[in-house]
Order: sequence, then C-alpha cells, then structure tokens
Amino acid sequence: MVKQLVLGAFEEFTPSFISNGWPHERSDPAAFATLEYWQSLARELDIAGFDFLFFADALGYPMYDDTIPEVVVREAVQFPVLDPLALISGLAATVDRLGFVVTASTTSEQPYLLARRFATLDHLTRGRIGWNVVTSDMQAALVKLLGLGEVTPHDRRYDRADEFIDVTLKLWEGGWSDGAAVVDKATRVFTDPGAVHRIRHHGEFFSVDGYFPVSPSPQRTPTLFQAGASARGVEFASRIAECVFIQERNPQKAAALVKLIRDQVELRGRRRDSVKIISSISVVVAETDDAARQLRRSLTAAPSRDAMAALFLGWSGVNLMGLDPDTAIDDLSTEVGKTTLAMYQNSEMSVGDVLDQLAETLGGTKITGTADSVAHDIELLAGESDVDGFLIEHTYGGIATYREFIDEVMPILRQRGLLPRTPRSGSLREMLTGSPTPRLQDGHPGALFRPDA
Ligand SMILES: Cc1cc2nc3c(=O)[nH]c(=O)nc-3n(C[C@H](O)[C@H](O)[C@H](O)COP(=O)(O)O)c2cc1C
Repeated sequence: MVKQLVLGAFEEFTPSFISNGWPHERSDPAAFATLEYWQSLARELDIAGFDFLFFADALGYPMYDDTIPEVVVREAVQFPVLDPLALISGLAATVDRLGFVVTASTTSEQPYLLARRFATLDHLTRGRIGWNVVTSDMQAALVKLLGLGEVTPHDRRYDRADEFIDVTLKLWEGGWSDGAAVVDKATRVFTDPGAVHRIRHHGEFFSVDGYFPVSPSPQRTPTLFQAGASARGVEFASRIAECVFIQERNPQKAAALVKLIRDQVELRGRRRDSVKIISSISVVVAETDDAARQLRRSLTAAPSRDAMAALFLGWSGVNLMGLDPDTAIDDLSTEVGKTTLAMYQNSEMSVGDVLDQLAETLGGTKITGTADSVAHDIELLAGESDVDGFLIEHTYGGIATYREFIDEVMPILRQRGLLPRTPRSGSLREMLTGSPTPRLQDGHPGALFRPDA
C-alpha cells in the first residue's frame, strides 16, 4: 500500500523568502502586504488539494555588530515581514477546506495570551489551525527588540518552550469540561459553571492562575508542529509535536533523522506513527529537464551572495561574511539555529565554500525537472526517507511558485496513488494525523491535563 503524502505550502508574510528570488522575472511581490494577494493563493491551494498553507515567521532580522546588514533592507531578506496571525482569519473566510499552520515563538510570547489567540483561530477556522512551535531564529535582534538582554542559551530556550507548551495545554485541555455549553434562556444558564476549571501553574518560567475565558473550540489544542533537528530540538518534538518539519537535503541523513524522531516518540510511550514528518523541498518544473535546469539556474542567480549570507546569518546566528573564508566550517558553533549550521558541517568545506553554494543549497532539497521526473524524484525521496509528506517551498513567490506543480505534477502523484483522489477535509488534526477526532490523541501528554483524565 503506497503511503499517501500530506502536502503543505511554505510561505512567510514577506515579499521574498528562502530563495530570496524576488528579482526573478517570474516574481511579482508588489502586493504582498494585501489580503487579496494571500486570499488568491489560498484559494488556488484549496482547489488544488493542498492540505495546509504554512506561514513561517521572523520576529527579528539578521544582525551582527549590533546592526542590521544594509543588504537585508535593500534586498528584502525576510524584511519587511508582517504578522501572520493577523492574516489567518481573513484567509479562512475565503476557503472551506484548506488548513493553516502559523509559527509563534515561545521566546517572545506569553502562554496565556498565545493560548487565547490560537483557541480563537481554532474557532474561526473551524478546527483547521496548527501552531509551529519555535524558540525563534534572528535571536540577536529579537533580544534587543524585546529587551531580553543576552541571547538565552539554545537548550535553555527549549526548557522554557517545554514549560510554555504545558501551560497552554493545561488551558486548552484542562480549562473546560466537555458539555459546558448550556445556553438555556429559561434558566439563564449560558455555561455550566461546574464545567469551567481554575488552572494553577507555578513553574520556573511562568506563573498562571485563573480561568481560561475562551470556550472550547473544535480541536481545543491547535495541531502542534515543530522544526528543529538538534538533539534538544528532537527531544522537545518527540514529547509534544504531532507534525515535525525537516529540511535535511541528504536522503540517507533524512531517513536517519526520521528514524531517530520516531524512536524517541516511541521511547516516550507514544505510537511511532502518531507523529507525521514533513520534509521541505524546493520544486522547479519545465517542459524539458534542460529548460528546468536553466530555470533553476536563473532562480539561484536572482539573489546576491550577500543576501544569501544574510539569510544564513538570520537562521543560524553565524556571520560567514565576517570570517576568514579559509576557516573550516566544522570549527564553527552557534546558540541560535544549530540545524542550519550542522547541514554544512562534517565536511571538508571552508567558510568560502559554503558562501559559494548558499544560493544553491540553503533551504530544503532542490527538485528540478519535467513533471514526470519531479514526480518520480518525490516518490523516490518519500520511499528513501520514510517521510509522511512534503512542504513546497516558496521560490518565485505567490502562485508562480506552485503553478506547474499544481497543474502538472500533482495529477501524476494522484495517478501513482501518492495523493488522495479527493482532497482531505475535516479538522487539521484529522487531515494530517489520521486522528479519528479533532481532539488531541489520548497518547499525547496534553491529554493528561483533561479534567476527567
Ligand atoms: C521547515 C522549517 C520551518 C521553520 N520555520 C521557522 C519559523 O517560522 N520561525 C523561526 O524562528 N524558525 C523557524 N525554523 C527554525 C527552527 O524553528 C529551528 O530554530 C531551527 O530548525 C534550528 O533548530 P535547532 O537549533 O533545534 O537545530 C524552521 C525550520 C524549518 C526546518
């Protein structure tokens, strides 16, 4: 039985992302700050049968020597970037089936306030919202913007994230019992007071004491995503994530990472398949393989070397431009994005080598060719790495990124049984995890916070 893949679109509320490809002739980012720009993309993805539209987010910007590199502003390296949480309900208003996943940070947010926002979005999307839990990249700028002082060490940020998640789960799963809604005009009972419970949490990072004022939404807990392949990142994911994003470009290493995550999930008493692993890929399609390679070269040539180095800085925390190009990449370390740096390590490469290939390599696996060869490569990659689905990365921007993929590749994937003939529907959790209900599955630690647990 061929595993049917889940499919997401990888975007950010910014004119250009990952590829920094906005200078490319196929790009048209002018209207990126309008609702209509994203509503039309959401409608196309909904009709095409994508499962979800994912909005990454950057709260800071690449920074070193206490300032923002000029290229970040000049070449729009994830700058400007707008708040994706403000966008979702406007998109949900135009589509009936597509799910939405949004990044939010445990470093910058407060658990009670974020729990309230996601529970509200779960109501407004009728259970089709997911939360990509990050501790945030762009740390150097972020700590200054939020007045947090020094960058908190990497693993310590995950310690805070662990407690953060537990507080939100207590509010979503423990704040109200099922059947609380009465709405009886005769007795003037809207909600059964006995079904609303006080949450008391006093931890190392957070203290919350009170009642959760948002009535139960379809999923209660948004579908939980995570993306971070460091040892501490995988540990975090194996405890709370229902879906994990990976961006490993080497199929063997991807297979090893998928196995590692599933092993750790099982060690925690959760079913191996209760976590879906979704790999990020960049797809360029054309009528011939030569034409596709030519198109890929033109996309790779769109951003400047400095722009790609700035993006790497934002994601990893490492300023390659400020280092001797002969420095061995293995000699470097970071307290920001360990996975991004690690992707280039255990290699003979120098800083200069990495800079030379950033535009070709940064981000996920690059798949380039005719519709047939792309469908073949995707089927092969899914088989080799045992992932459950793919995230199609922003390339030119807008629908141009997905046009050929939707029109030419997806029909082939359907024929091969890799995509469902009828697009999935229901809550995001049901669509992606196969959960029989919109609610967190019993094996998830969040279920232990339920009043009747
Ligand atoms: C597909 C994908 C999407 C991500 N989206 C975001 C994001 O929206 N915002 C963010 O700050 N970091 C994002 N990250 C970065 C991760 O959250 C994490 O910081 C990074 O993978 C390094 O994690 P590690 O230090 O545990 O290895 C993303 C990573 C991947 C692979």
